[in-house]
Amino acid sequence: MTSTPDPVFGEALRRKRVFGEALRRKREEAGLSLRRLAALVSYSPGWMSRIENGLANPTLQMAQLCDRHLSVGDELAALAQRIVADGPGAQLPARIPMQLPRGAGVLIGRDLDLGFLDRRMADAASSGDSMLVSVEGPAGIGKTALVVQWAYRVWSRFPDGVLFADLHGHTRGMSPVSPSAVLHVCLTALGVGAKAIPSGVARRAALFRTLTSGRQVLIVLDNASNSAQVQALLPGRSACAVVITSRRRLTGLAVRDDASVLSLDPLTESDARDVLHSCVSTGYDAGDRTFRVVARQCGCVPLALRVAGYRLATTRSPSGLVRDLVDPVTRLDPLSDADDSSVCVRTALECSYLNLDAAAARMFRLLSLVPAGLTAAGAAVLGGQPQRSAQRALDGLLDLHLAGLNGGEYRLGELEVAFAAEKLALEESAAERVAALQRLAVWRERRYLVFQQAPAADAASAYALLAGSNRTTLSARTGLVHRG
Ligand SMILES: Nc1ncnc2c1ncn2[C@@H]1O[C@H](COP(=O)(O)OP(=O)(O)OP(=O)(O)O)[C@@H](O)[C@H]1O
Ligand SMILES: [Mg+2]
Repeated sequence: MTSTPDPVFGEALRRKRVFGEALRRKREEAGLSLRRLAALVSYSPGWMSRIENGLANPTLQMAQLCDRHLSVGDELAALAQRIVADGPGAQLPARIPMQLPRGAGVLIGRDLDLGFLDRRMADAASSGDSMLVSVEGPAGIGKTALVVQWAYRVWSRFPDGVLFADLHGHTRGMSPVSPSAVLHVCLTALGVGAKAIPSGVARRAALFRTLTSGRQVLIVLDNASNSAQVQALLPGRSACAVVITSRRRLTGLAVRDDASVLSLDPLTESDARDVLHSCVSTGYDAGDRTFRVVARQCGCVPLALRVAGYRLATTRSPSGLVRDLVDPVTRLDPLSDADDSSVCVRTALECSYLNLDAAAARMFRLLSLVPAGLTAAGAAVLGGQPQRSAQRALDGLLDLHLAGLNGGEYRLGELEVAFAAEKLALEESAAERVAALQRLAVWRERRYLVFQQAPAADAASAYALLAGSNRTTLSARTGLVHRG
C-alpha cells in the first residue's frame, strides 16, 4: 500500500529544497565557498550545508545576510519569507525578549544614581552611539536592585526587547559563566534556532553584533567577574544600551570601550533608616535610636540592612540583636544565618575575599587591626613590607571594593572590618598579629618603644591608647589579639 504524501508537508519540503538550491547557485555564482559564506554571515558551516541540501529551514535573518553578501537583492529573503510564513511558528506573534527579573520592591534613595543612568541614556541617544555603563560597588550595595529598577523605568524605549544575563562573577560554588554560553542564551532569545547558532565565541559574538545592529535592545549583564568576561557580549555601534554590574572595578571596559562608571556608595544614614523602617514598621518610627545604631553597624549597606530589618521584625530581643551588631566579633552572625546564601552577608564577603590574591588578602586581614584607616605608608609598616608591594595589595582591595580610599587613607567598612577580623583570627598567628601592631606603634610614635617589650597580651591595649581611637571595636580587637 502506498501512502499519499501530506500536501502541506510536501509543499514545505519543496520550498526548503528550492531555497537550498537557490542559495547554492547564488553562492557558486559569487565564487564563494560554503565555509567562507558561513563565516561572512556568522552561522555554522554545518548548518549552512544542511540548508543548501534542503534539510533545514533558513531563518529570515540568515537569508537577508546572504542576500547582502551575495549581492542578489532580496531574492533569498523572499524565498525564506514563504517558508517562515508557512512554518509551525507562523501563527505566533514575534517574540520580543523581556528578561528582567522581578527585582526589589521599593528602591529607597538612589535618585542621583538613577539620574546618572538617565543622563547617559540621553547622551547616547543624542550622539547616536550605544550606551555603555558599568555599575560597580561592594557586595550587597544595591547594584542589581538599582539597575533592574532603572531598566523597568526605561524598557519601553527599547522596542526590540530587554536581555538580562547573570554572569555569576561572584556566586558561591559557581564559576563565572563563559561568554560563549551567555551568547548562546542571548542569540536564542533573539530568535536564532539552536542549530543556527555557530560554535566558538568569536562567531557567536559576530552574529550577536549582526542581529543587534540597527536595533534597540537593552542588555543588562549582571555580576561580571571582569572586563574580559563581557568583552564579547557588547554590541557594535548601535542604538542598544548595555548596563553591566560588577563587584570589581572594570578598568578594561572603561579604558578600552569608553564605558561610563557609576560607583555605588552606601546609602545615606537617613535612607538606611528608611530601609529598616520598610522592613519593620510596627513599634518603631524612622528616627528611632535602634534604627540609627543598626544602620551604622550595617555600614548603611542595603543587603545588611534588609537582613537586619528582617531580624528586627522577628526577634524577641531587639536589644540583644543590637548588642551583637555593635560588637565586630559577633556582628556578622545575625546578618548571616539565612537559608539562602544569596542573602547571607558573610557569604557575600567571602566570595569577594576569595578573589583576592594572597598579598591583598593578608593586607585585608591586617587592616582590621586599624579600623580608623591607614595611609599606604602606614599599611606598608603594618604589613612589614616595602611600600610598593603594600600599594599593590591595597590596589587589589580597591579593585574589589573591599576597602575605601578617603583623604589618602585606606579604610574598611563596618561589615568588612568584622569579616576581616574573623579571617585574621583564623589565618594569622597571635605572634604575627602582635608583631604587626608593634611595627605600626613604633612607626607612629617612637617614644612608645617600650611598647615593643610589652607582653603580647598588653600590646593591643597599648596600641589602642596609642592610636587614640574611641571606636567601640577596640576592646573586641584586643580580644582577637589575645586569642591564639
Ligand atoms: N536602595 C535600596 N532600597 C531598598 N532595598 C535595596 C536597595 N538597594 C538594594 N536593596 C536590597 O538589598 C539587597 C541587596 O541588593 P543587591 O542584590 O542589588 O546588591 P548587589 O550590589 O547587586 O549585590 P551583589 O554584589 O551580591 O550582586 C536586595 O535585597 C535588594 O533588594
Ligand atoms: Mg547583584
